[in-house]
Amino acid sequence: MRLLVTGACGFIGSHVCEALVARGDTVVGLDNFNDFYDPRLKEHNRAALEARPGFSLVRGSILDEEAMAQAFVARPDAVVHLAAWAGVRPSIERPALYVRENVDGTVAVMDALRAQPRVAGALPKLVFASSSSVYGTNAKVPFEEDDPIAHPVSPYAATKRAAELLAYTYHHLYGLDVTCLRFFTVYGPRQRPEMAIHKFARLLLDGKAVPRYGDGTTRRDYTFIADIVQGVLASIDRCAGFHIYNLGNSRTVTLNELIEKLATALGVTAKVEALPEQPGDVPITYADVSRAVRELDYRPDFPLERGLAEFATWLKARG
Ligand SMILES: NC(=O)c1ccc[n+]([C@@H]2O[C@H](COP(=O)([O-])OP(=O)(O)OC[C@H]3O[C@@H](n4cnc5c(N)ncnc54)[C@H](O)[C@@H]3O)[C@@H](O)[C@H]2O)c1
Repeated sequence: MRLLVTGACGFIGSHVCEALVARGDTVVGLDNFNDFYDPRLKEHNRAALEARPGFSLVRGSILDEEAMAQAFVARPDAVVHLAAWAGVRPSIERPALYVRENVDGTVAVMDALRAQPRVAGALPKLVFASSSSVYGTNAKVPFEEDDPIAHPVSPYAATKRAAELLAYTYHHLYGLDVTCLRFFTVYGPRQRPEMAIHKFARLLLDGKAVPRYGDGTTRRDYTFIADIVQGVLASIDRCAGFHIYNLGNSRTVTLNELIEKLATALGVTAKVEALPEQPGDVPITYADVSRAVRELDYRPDFPLERGLAEFATWLKARG
């Protein structure tokens, strides 16, 4: 297959591209190397990807028509749209930026898709990275795709839900096949440096205290990157109609447990600095993945301890 992957040089994108070229697909990556976190990390991912046959990069934004035209020259069979500004807390400071990049950006990707020539009546398909944050403070757990979710508690979550709704509209109006994937806190090698596991690990290795917001009883469903990649590839292969899937691990741990397990994986003793709860944080994320298991043959099978050990090995090797 020929794929266009937006956000190709980020954390999830670099793993997805790697897996796609490894199975023989041809991948064009599009990335603008924004400064949400140190772009050198993305350049590092780019260099590793460009060393692989089957991968090429277009440097630019999904909001730049020229870059998009260049990215579509190879006539992809499907687009995996991962480019976005991620992160709940920064979105509270910069809501307009998140709306532009995540909502207008997704509309730009879908407009480019609907302008593509149809093959046997069909447009190229779209797999879109949504987020567990769309569930907000949903009291019912585990979260199911059809749960009512009208109350996002951060601009980031609202932009992801808005993009899902617009994706349905494009499916309805133009027959675009779309799969929206609600990722649940993804971790593993190359994880974004501002995400909890990565940030905590660096502090722990430096012998510093981990800032713990709230009393440490908030629960998260952490999903190892290899499981996410399996779910993304299955979604590309089975994308037809309009579907939403949770991609999580379907097990939760408290923040206190996470810090302990991470310290064990790193071979250090955990130190914690207790801080007040943060606005925009949700008490629990917990995925019901039965739809993805049934329809995508999604099999999340990485226990947290093993995933954290792989992450710790990567982080220490990176220095
Ligand atoms: N990591 C997680 O736990 C998680 C959870 C839920 C959803 N997601 C979603 O998955 C996707 C990938 O997340 P990630 O953790 O790999 O983040 P990331 O920041 O590492 O990757 C995103 C990439 O997109 C690029 N990008 C951003 N705006 C762009 C634009 N306008 N044009 C072109 N490229 C652009 C960035 O430079 C970056 O390389 C995002 O859409 C994110 O919202 C991630």
